Amino acid sequence: MKQAAITAVGHYVPEKRLTNADLEQMVDTSDEWIRTRTGIRERRIAADDEATSDMAAEAARELIRKNGVDPAAIDAIVVGTVTPDMLFPATACLIQEKIGAENAWGFDLSAACSGFMYALATGARFIESGQHEKVLVVGADTMSSIIDYEDRSTCILFGDGAGAVLLEPDDEYGVTDIEQGIDATDWEQLCMLAGGSRRPASPETVEKKLHVLRQDGRPVFKRAVSKMAEITEGIMERGDLAAEDVRYLVPHQANERIISATADSVGLPMERVMLNIDRYGNTTAATIPLCLADYEDDLRPGDNLVLVAFGGGFTWSAAHIRWAYNGLDV
Ligand code: COA
Repeated sequence: MKQAAITAVGHYVPEKRLTNADLEQMVDTSDEWIRTRTGIRERRIAADDEATSDMAAEAARELIRKNGVDPAAIDAIVVGTVTPDMLFPATACLIQEKIGAENAWGFDLSAACSGFMYALATGARFIESGQHEKVLVVGADTMSSIIDYEDRSTCILFGDGAGAVLLEPDDEYGVTDIEQGIDATDWEQLCMLAGGSRRPASPETVEKKLHVLRQDGRPVFKRAVSKMAEITEGIMERGDLAAEDVRYLVPHQANERIISATADSVGLPMERVMLNIDRYGNTTAATIPLCLADYEDDLRPGDNLVLVAFGGGFTWSAAHIRWAYNGLDV
């Protein structure tokens, strides 16, 4: 069976930076508190006329430009996001139109911070089954559109961005193993309550600020630490990977303390952990492809990567990838 290899990467972050110093002017917080509790220094914020499909299309355009990909050859577009431009049409449809992928079909899927991983798992199946030759997998979120900038416990964490990878069939390299899970126990600890069919938008939902992300940070933190460690260990065991076999751990970027606890649990030093939370914060579905874009020059074909994410739902996923892309050719 063919494997789904990542053969191209693209990314996009908005120009505007929201620094810890800016947040000190907005809520009762400090640069020191944010840095020591989360590892974040600044995040990017979309422009007023910029939505998720705009950022995702920019990431896809970079991927296309750098690798000479013909947009018309893309068979499918799978988008992980919790901040689509609107409930429908799907972000995938809007991206298809913006990048001229005229022969592609596609859809969005909702798995919060695990969104890119779920999209990767789904896209990989289309390649492995032989149904498709080129699948564009996107993780993109405009978190600033659902954040309450008066809530100091959440507004310091999140930022906006988009990342994309291209999957193509390969005999040797690619997604070697991927697992995912869900558990809705205590889902209220991380959610957005209004704007769906249970609580459609009304003056009351607006007045009660139910259209923003709410999170009970401490229990979510604990759950993230234990699940990320458990599934990272599991995927390494199944792939017979010792710590020294792993070129990079590629963790979802929610909190640097969660990331270092995960790395510790499998004996990986931080030099072999992809980290950019200091510059982007938590961009939800975009964190993992943004990491891949930042570190791609450092990767060589055959490198073992362990990807891991945990998020609202609750959702989680871990993968073992043998890297195929060398920045120029497969
Ligand atoms: N600035 C200053 N103080 C703050 C603050 C801020 N921005 N946010 C919260 N605090 C205060 C709290 O009010 C609390 O004060 P109290 O002790 O007087 O009640 C204190 O800091 C500690 O709060 P706590 O929530 O226990 O802090 P924490 O160490 O757990 O860090 C988070 C808070 C949000 C950074 C952390 O819980 C976290 O990262 N959670 C998970 C995030 C996550 O992974 N989310 C997405 C899953 S994908």
